[in-house]
Amino acid sequence: MSAKHNGSLLLLVLLVYGVATAVSGRGQEEENFGGHQEHLAVLPNPNVIHGNGNGNGNGNNLQTTTETANPNSTINHMESTPDFCFTMEENMCLNFFNSNPNNNNTNHHHLGHGGVNACMCRQYSNSNATHNNWYCCNITQLTMISSCPNYSNWTNLHIYNMTMTEIDLSSPIFQTLQSLAITHGNITSTVKTFSRMSKVKCLNLSNNNLSNVTMKTSVMLKFLNLSNNNLTEIPKITQNHNITLDIRMNKRMLCNNLMATIFRGSFKFVAPNSTYCLLDSAFNWFNSTDYIAISQLDIIRRFYTDCPVIQGKGNCTCDPEHMLSAGDPSKNKIFCRVDCSNLGLTELPPKLPENTFQLNITNNNISVIGDHFHNNPTYQSIVKLFADNNRIESMHDLEGTQFMDHFQKLYLRNNHLKRLPEYLLTNVLDSNVGRVIFLGGNKLMCDCNSAKVLKLWLLKRSRDIPDYNEIMCRNMPQRIMELQELKVCQSPHDWTDYVYYLIATEVILLIALITKVSYDYWVFKTAGYLPWPASKMPKLPCDWLCES
Ligand SMILES: *[C@@H]1O[C@H](CO)[C@@H](O)[C@H](O)[C@H]1NC(C)=O
Ligand SMILES: *[C@@H]1O[C@H](CO)[C@@H](O)[C@H](O)[C@H]1NC(C)=O
Ligand SMILES: *[C@@H]1O[C@H](CO)[C@@H](O)[C@H](O)[C@H]1NC(C)=O
Ligand SMILES: *[C@@H]1O[C@H](CO)[C@@H](O)[C@H](O)[C@H]1NC(C)=O
Ligand SMILES: *[C@@H]1O[C@H](CO)[C@@H](O)[C@H](O)[C@H]1NC(C)=O
Ligand SMILES: *[C@@H]1O[C@H](CO)[C@@H](O)[C@H](O)[C@H]1NC(C)=O
Ligand SMILES: *[C@@H]1O[C@H](CO)[C@@H](O)[C@H](O)[C@H]1NC(C)=O
Ligand SMILES: *[C@@H]1O[C@H](CO)[C@@H](O)[C@H](O)[C@H]1NC(C)=O
Ligand SMILES: *[C@@H]1O[C@H](CO)[C@@H](O)[C@H](O)[C@H]1NC(C)=O
Ligand SMILES: *[C@@H]1O[C@H](CO)[C@@H](O)[C@H](O)[C@H]1NC(C)=O
Ligand SMILES: *[C@@H]1O[C@H](CO)[C@@H](O)[C@H](O)[C@H]1NC(C)=O
Ligand SMILES: *[C@@H]1O[C@H](CO)[C@@H](O)[C@H](O)[C@H]1NC(C)=O
Repeated sequence: MSAKHNGSLLLLVLLVYGVATAVSGRGQEEENFGGHQEHLAVLPNPNVIHGNGNGNGNGNNLQTTTETANPNSTINHMESTPDFCFTMEENMCLNFFNSNPNNNNTNHHHLGHGGVNACMCRQYSNSNATHNNWYCCNITQLTMISSCPNYSNWTNLHIYNMTMTEIDLSSPIFQTLQSLAITHGNITSTVKTFSRMSKVKCLNLSNNNLSNVTMKTSVMLKFLNLSNNNLTEIPKITQNHNITLDIRMNKRMLCNNLMATIFRGSFKFVAPNSTYCLLDSAFNWFNSTDYIAISQLDIIRRFYTDCPVIQGKGNCTCDPEHMLSAGDPSKNKIFCRVDCSNLGLTELPPKLPENTFQLNITNNNISVIGDHFHNNPTYQSIVKLFADNNRIESMHDLEGTQFMDHFQKLYLRNNHLKRLPEYLLTNVLDSNVGRVIFLGGNKLMCDCNSAKVLKLWLLKRSRDIPDYNEIMCRNMPQRIMELQELKVCQSPHDWTDYVYYLIATEVILLIALITKVSYDYWVFKTAGYLPWPASKMPKLPCDWLCES
């Protein structure tokens, strides 16, 4: 499934990219390959990413958690949550008044629902008694918790359905907790923050309506669940230790904001392949709501760290572009454009960033390109190669490469090509519409065949080889398209034609000679004299012999 499937997917995506380029008017070319609904944008520049400093020595990897135990399941909240996070099941709130008969220290039976000064919390008895787990339901005011006795020695607390819109994290209720979950409520923002002594290791604010989290996090914090909210960015977490973040299902999360904060600390993400951020409402021309998986952000980071540096020549530049497939955000990918032009290279760079789809090596001294396209795994995603003004001598060595199967654009103008592999190019160009090859300025070996076959072939492929008229001959001062079959095909080395004339002439002369000799003989026999010129010829030794 994979290789072929990936290939065609890539192809689709790139086809689509062509349109985006045309639509956005930002690409290098103007062609339009047909398609719809796709977009192209350039992501934040590397300075933004690097400018914030790389706080720790951890390599700043965008790490992924392995806490998702069941690879079968789709996103499953519980399975992504570590042991030290406490949440109770939803139905505990429905059975609130029926359960825990031995723990009714609040007299809630008599106060009924919604009593503002009634403790609406209970110990979670399903669990191990040594775990001091508590849960609260349908909280409309903090007094419904603070009226509970001994809350200051609770360890883990889950507040379900807190209908207030603001939550004051500096409340004494929260200061002794190790795990705090406030879920399925209406909280839109947090105010203030935990005390400095806070031991909160797990904070779960999922399934609220948070759009503004300004808290400073506890030093102990290990796991922060902000999934299913309305956030556009994550809170600024400055600690250096590993924190796992669950930010799934924040439909307004902006990739730009994530990028800016993500590399400051050491983060792990729950399900980075299925956590999406918005590519980027910051570009006013880029209006739509397109998502990419945040795992792609790490690929962007690597575009900069893996961008080729050629010893003694200089740096290539690498830029991300995103290519979107309509409808399915998991197929939206970030691809890399690598520009190594004007560096005086004599060989291709040995390693390219992941997902390089475009390589520009214009204006170098490269003569061989096939090897890397055959053997180098980092070259396998390339579909656009800009290689004008080099010394490339042959296209034959690209035969059988992934590139030849999938490329969209190939620029080989002003190289040293001697011949064109017409059979190969015919296959390649027929296999996929919209592919283009530029070959102008190359000087091919020209012969009668060039005039007879190549010229017609080029004419036929004029759509795929737009500059076909610029291809020259190296052994005569002409363009291929100017070659005239009559002239080229009668050139001196085509001498065999003359041999027949020569032989025919000789045969005619021989016949004439024999005829003349026979005639002379007949005249001499009948009339007794020799006709001219035999009569005027000097006597030869054999004549003396005959006469005597
Ligand atoms: C995944 O699914 C397969 C078949 O559906 C099942 O046999 C396997 O136990 C599942 N794995 C887990 C970890 O649930
Ligand atoms: C919380 O509200 C739900 C829905 O109104 C209700 O079914 C449940 O009994 C309530 N629980 C408590 C403890 O009030
Ligand atoms: C539960 O409450 C009832 C009355 O509301 C009381 O009689 C009983 O002793 C309480 N149980 C516990 C364990 O506190
Ligand atoms: C109860 O907690 C102890 C210590 O935390 C643990 O060893 C034990 O396995 C737990 N028992 C259950 C049933 O969870
Ligand atoms: C949340 O609590 C409010 C007020 O107590 C209640 O009206 C509502 O039904 C509850 N919602 C859920 C989902 O339990
Ligand atoms: C915790 O609360 C219980 C009553 O529920 C109380 O007896 C105990 O002393 C408290 N522990 C501490 C450390 O405050
Ligand atoms: C809380 O949010 C739910 C939906 O998320 C809504 O139906 C409910 O009316 C809200 N309650 C309050 C008190 O804002
Ligand atoms: C977020 O909250 C802080 C303080 O509560 C406030 O100053 C800020 O303007 C809020 N930001 C947004 C976007 O609401
Ligand atoms: C999310 O926040 C924005 C801006 O604060 C607000 O306009 C929008 O209604 C919120 N979405 C929901 C579902 O509350
Ligand atoms: C973060 O986690 C990595 C491995 O996941 C570990 O090597 C590193 O020491 C951790 N850093 C801190 C500060 O805990
Ligand atoms: C994310 O997806 C990529 C391929 O798309 C895969 O290689 C990687 O293992 C996935 N990561 C996780 C954490 O699932
Ligand atoms: C941007 O979005 C607005 C409203 O959603 C729409 O009217 C406008 O046409 C969009 N502009 C572009 C360039 O897509």
